[in-house]
Amino acid sequence: MAARQCLAVMVERNGGSDVLAVCPIEIADPGPGQIMVQLAAAGVNFIDVYQREGTYPIATPFVLGSEGAGVVVQVGAEVTDFSVGDVVAWAHHRGSFSTLVVLPAEVAVPVPDGLDPELAAAVMLQGLTAHYLVNSTYAVQPGDRILMHAAAGGVGQLLTQLAKAKGASVIGTVSTDAKAAKARAAGADHVINYSEVSDVAAAVRELTAGEGVAVVYDGVGKQTFEASLKSLRIRGMLALFGAASGQVPPFDLQRLNGLGSLFVTRPTLAHYVLTREELLWRSAEILGAVADGSLRVEIGGRYSFADAARAYDDLESRRTTGKLLLIP
Ligand SMILES: NC(=O)c1ccc[n+]([C@@H]2O[C@H](COP(=O)([O-])OP(=O)(O)OC[C@H]3O[C@@H](n4cnc5c(N)ncnc54)[C@H](OP(=O)(O)O)[C@@H]3O)[C@@H](O)[C@H]2O)c1
Repeated sequence: MAARQCLAVMVERNGGSDVLAVCPIEIADPGPGQIMVQLAAAGVNFIDVYQREGTYPIATPFVLGSEGAGVVVQVGAEVTDFSVGDVVAWAHHRGSFSTLVVLPAEVAVPVPDGLDPELAAAVMLQGLTAHYLVNSTYAVQPGDRILMHAAAGGVGQLLTQLAKAKGASVIGTVSTDAKAAKARAAGADHVINYSEVSDVAAAVRELTAGEGVAVVYDGVGKQTFEASLKSLRIRGMLALFGAASGQVPPFDLQRLNGLGSLFVTRPTLAHYVLTREELLWRSAEILGAVADGSLRVEIGGRYSFADAARAYDDLESRRTTGKLLLIP
């Protein structure tokens, strides 16, 4: 078949959201091991911001977007897992903001029957992240007290629900009262508004009878890192999984000794879906939980391709809760 025309959201040069443009592109047939998908929805994520700005360098111009879901319209040679008409989703394929996406079949997962592809697109990257953080980076135990920063955000609401289901007590941080209500609705037992409380670690100590929490999940980074360290119990774990407020500056490891033989890790999703089995395990649990209603995902906004810049402006200026989607 000849190359097909489609529309894509491109990054023309590194910079702010104004460098995004919707452009016609040509998509070649899927090669061996690849599938072509008609996009139903794509997820908006911070990794796109880091790529657009050039923090994660990629040669420009390139098609933005990591995450999506849609219907398989063509399969290449040697593809055995999927057929035309299957609904699939993925968390990691750069170039996902395109009406047609060609991607390796091995990064796609099946979407359970009856699950809206929009919801599947909404939970792949953030849901798999929440899954590995609570199951593998630090395996949350019943009775654990945990601290989740930006608890009304995409990862925040999902991780709070997963940790509650494991019997943990969750302290969430947020920047507004409206976000506090969202964090509570996701199951947070206590919520600290860190735009009003100057000493977050002291507030956490008060809520934990002086002991501190077993684990802090920190995707905010620069602005929360110090409070995260000081909120941990002895031998507690800081999982620094993002930098929504900026990167954490260089750090003296000796401080981990004085603060209680602490552990700090900087995990990333790619290293927690190393094999096809691991990807299928995590995605089946997350997509299955959304399908059976035990995991709730809030769609915080839907935007057209032409409105992609506005989606990022909203995300980056802390106006959003839950998950933002681009709908082609
Ligand atoms: N390592 C991984 O595998 C992985 C995977 C997915 C995502 N992440 C990271 O996880 C973090 C959360 O991602 P998400 O998609 O779920 O986003 P999100 O939590 O929905 O949005 C980010 C939130 O961070 C808080 N924040 C604090 N200071 C901020 C600032 N200066 N600018 C912007 N936001 C600020 C805001 O909540 P408040 O207003 O309540 O403070 C904001 O809503 C990001 O850092 C992302 O890079 C990492």
